[in-house]
Amino acid sequence: MTSILIVDDEANIRASLQRALGREGYHVDVASTLAEGRAYTREAYDVVLLDVRFPDGSGIDLLAEIREQSPDTIVVMMSGHATVDVAVQATRLGAYDFLEKPISLERLLVLLRNASSARTLRAENERLQRAWAVPIIGESEAVRALLQEIRVAGASGARVLIQGENGTGKELVARALHAAGPRRDRPFVAVNCAAIPEELIESELFGHERGAFTGATQSRKGRFEEAHGGTLFLDEVGDLSQRAQTKLLRVLQEGEFPRVGGQRVIRVDVRVIAATNRDLAEETRRGGFREDLYFRLAVIPVTVPPLRERLEDLPLLVDHFARQVAAETGGRRRHVGAAALDVMRGYAFPGNIRELRNLVERLVIMAPGPTIGPDQVRAALPRPNDLAAPSRRLSDSVRDFERAQIDAALAAEGGNMTRTAERLGLERSHLYKKMRRLGYGTDAGDD
Ligand SMILES: Nc1ncnc2c1ncn2[C@@H]1O[C@H](COP(=O)(O)OP(=O)(O)OP(=O)(O)O)[C@@H](O)[C@H]1O
Ligand SMILES: [Mg+2]
Repeated sequence: MTSILIVDDEANIRASLQRALGREGYHVDVASTLAEGRAYTREAYDVVLLDVRFPDGSGIDLLAEIREQSPDTIVVMMSGHATVDVAVQATRLGAYDFLEKPISLERLLVLLRNASSARTLRAENERLQRAWAVPIIGESEAVRALLQEIRVAGASGARVLIQGENGTGKELVARALHAAGPRRDRPFVAVNCAAIPEELIESELFGHERGAFTGATQSRKGRFEEAHGGTLFLDEVGDLSQRAQTKLLRVLQEGEFPRVGGQRVIRVDVRVIAATNRDLAEETRRGGFREDLYFRLAVIPVTVPPLRERLEDLPLLVDHFARQVAAETGGRRRHVGAAALDVMRGYAFPGNIRELRNLVERLVIMAPGPTIGPDQVRAALPRPNDLAAPSRRLSDSVRDFERAQIDAALAAEGGNMTRTAERLGLERSHLYKKMRRLGYGTDAGDD
């Protein structure tokens, strides 16, 4: 059944719409202030009918919050005194439609019918994209092996524990596993265990009944229930508290659980895929993570290699991201030159592929010309290239470091030598000498 929330400060509008929509078989809740509306919309409604002007603020702000929190919710703005500006702003923020008061019930019903088919269509598209458009770029031995593992582990439907450093693509792998398996047309629900406060994690995962704790004004489904029939992705599972670990273990063993504060037992059929950037086997030995849970999660362990162990994929990845960024920003295509790639190969990329993507994004957006060169890469890298290759001569590393610092300071000061010297805490003449020694052109850095 479609759930609708009406947020309006006029009591008769709330009452008449609630009655009329209720008769049509919709489940309707009402809120009379923005604050109340905000509290209600923590639960994802299918549709929110939202007034613009409230004594306690503007409905436009709540619209923005809802779009952010639950992008699938359809928000229809209602107003009796709407200016064009407000309507335009609402549309930009993703309002589905804008209705003038007094509301025509007939129009509203047509709109609700169209909205729910638009919603189904959008959800369908997203599922398809998730299922097929998960390009895992790379042709290295490491990536080929990974893809093979994904095909086999994915199809098996077994639990998988994905391990790997930050930004290596663990979430991408989780989505690919889901897409490669029998549940590909069912929901994929991701929970970042590290981002949820400890006291809320149980209710997030297992849901709660009304009144389970202060603030639980409504009962709420947990992520396990949402993922029923599909896959639940437990990201950063190493961050779960001991208590949550114990409850999760029981649920994995029994396949059923009560919501927090509830009696009724809920049975779910969910495939769990977990990920962590920690060494969970080691934490298990040290007692930080329950061993029995570890073995239940890691039926098939998959390790995603760090970028520095598959540097042969760098050109492909850089090209992929450069295209992507150009398409996203509507900017021109930029080519990353061979010398620029060499500089990248010397860098450790502690943030792995995510860091590489950010780097390429910065380079493409800032590039003055069609080809990106080594100096631009050096200037854009946060640290000198020495950390990746401790076998290099120290003096070379120091030189790169100094160049990168000088480039960054010059860029920040728009090429002004006096201020660049000041920023670096050097005498101006000393900076000139140093730059000559570092091989900057003789006319380099003239004010
Ligand atoms: N092989 C790949 N091909 C293309 N893009 C990739 C690849 N691996 C990772 N990415 C991209 O890099 C970014 C980081 O990937 P993802 O979020 O999956 O990493 P993660 O391991 O979950 O990171 P974290 O540990 O920080 O949560 C994403 O934008 C993802 O699309
Ligand atoms: Mg992740």
